[in-house]
Amino acid sequence: MTETGAGGRTSLHGQWSGRLAFILAVTGSAVGLGNIWRFPYIAGENGGGAFVIVYLVCIVIVGLPIMMAEVLIGRRGRRNPVATMRLLGDEEAGAGNWKVVGALGVGTGFLILSFYSVIAGWALAYVFESASNAFAGATRETVEQTFNALASNPLRTGLWHTIFLAATAFVIARGVERGIERAVRLMMPALVLLLLVLLGYSAVEGNFAQGLRFMFEPRFDELTRDGLMEALGHAFFTLSVGMGAVMAYGAYLPRDTSIMKMSVAVVAADTAIALIAALVVFPIVFANGLDPDQGPGLVFVSLPLAFGQMPGGTVIATLLFLLLTFAAWTSAISLMEPATAWIIEKFRLGRAPAAIIMAGITWLISLLTVLSFSTLSGVTFLRGTFFDNIDFLSNSILLPAGGLAIVIFAGWIMARESTSGELDPDAGTAYRIWRFTARYLTPLAIVAVLLRGVGVI
Ligand code: PHE
Repeated sequence: MTETGAGGRTSLHGQWSGRLAFILAVTGSAVGLGNIWRFPYIAGENGGGAFVIVYLVCIVIVGLPIMMAEVLIGRRGRRNPVATMRLLGDEEAGAGNWKVVGALGVGTGFLILSFYSVIAGWALAYVFESASNAFAGATRETVEQTFNALASNPLRTGLWHTIFLAATAFVIARGVERGIERAVRLMMPALVLLLLVLLGYSAVEGNFAQGLRFMFEPRFDELTRDGLMEALGHAFFTLSVGMGAVMAYGAYLPRDTSIMKMSVAVVAADTAIALIAALVVFPIVFANGLDPDQGPGLVFVSLPLAFGQMPGGTVIATLLFLLLTFAAWTSAISLMEPATAWIIEKFRLGRAPAAIIMAGITWLISLLTVLSFSTLSGVTFLRGTFFDNIDFLSNSILLPAGGLAIVIFAGWIMARESTSGELDPDAGTAYRIWRFTARYLTPLAIVAVLLRGVGVI
């Protein structure tokens, strides 16, 4: 296994111990709140059906090719996303300005982490709620009360969110390769296993038929323009692409790894977990007369209702929220890594000071989200609360914009030999399909959705 990138470049931040370690790290980044918290609630808000179908199409023709593009760019550049885009921009086109794409990603990462850490804080709080038996035999009113009491209390939410952010900065300070591998290797199988247990519960006790119909019956007339943009944006969000997280991880990837196979595996796992989560949530929602359209509280209300009724519910609930917090943790780490690598290389800081600075900045922006569910919940503009606006800006606009730039760079700016050199030196069928998709289908799909979103088509 050689450690060098194109032109003998090596990463300044170390390297994954091997292929499996990288797959685990990218899976850890991809699988998180996006799958279990966000997918069910935005599918619910957008009427399911058509939304889910558009999301799946976006995963295949937009998310997957962009993931491959990001990894190949990262591995070729071997630096932080800003420096990598400048370097490759120079090499491929004599235009270092491509670094703007990396910088945009660093900024997007801060924005996403600012709300991500707040929701992860809720999940952490729910570990303790569950363990204290708060959901045993709970009714719809009590679970709703439990959630509102947490979300509407800025001090409680703020406390948990601070703990979560500190834990993220701690790992960043120590370096990503240590720890993440082991955490993901144990945690992911456990998370999937618990979700399958819950799926069994939903199938038996929930309104499974209605849940299935809600998710897969194509009702395209119900899909709004915003819904379309959210489906595209969520494909980016859930796969961690469009902001350089996967690019930053690609910089630490040994050369002998097949980027294509690895990306397919990660995307398949991520999508399966999201679909299972939604198939757990909606049957419970319908069986208990909950509103699928209730927003960010959806999993925090629906799952506890199920835990309250099932045997061993307290233990299962505690474990599930613990695993969810871990999954969010490995994602949050990847949200911070591009900025960390950039600050370290640019300002020659150590990892620890870099981590502290970034956590501080993120914490300040996070206050807007914390307060969106409490003191400032009445302050709405454009899309709604501050949280709604930060979420829409980062996921539905900045990630697709960043992804579009990345895929255009990989498909049109980089020489064919450069991309095939990373993806498949023999330029076989799979490579040719990727290149065609990256050059035509992916950019067209993104542009079409964005134009439709602003009402041009
Ligand atoms: N993919 C993560 C999730 O689904 C969130 C994330 C987005 C992580 C962007 C990194 C970059 O929870």
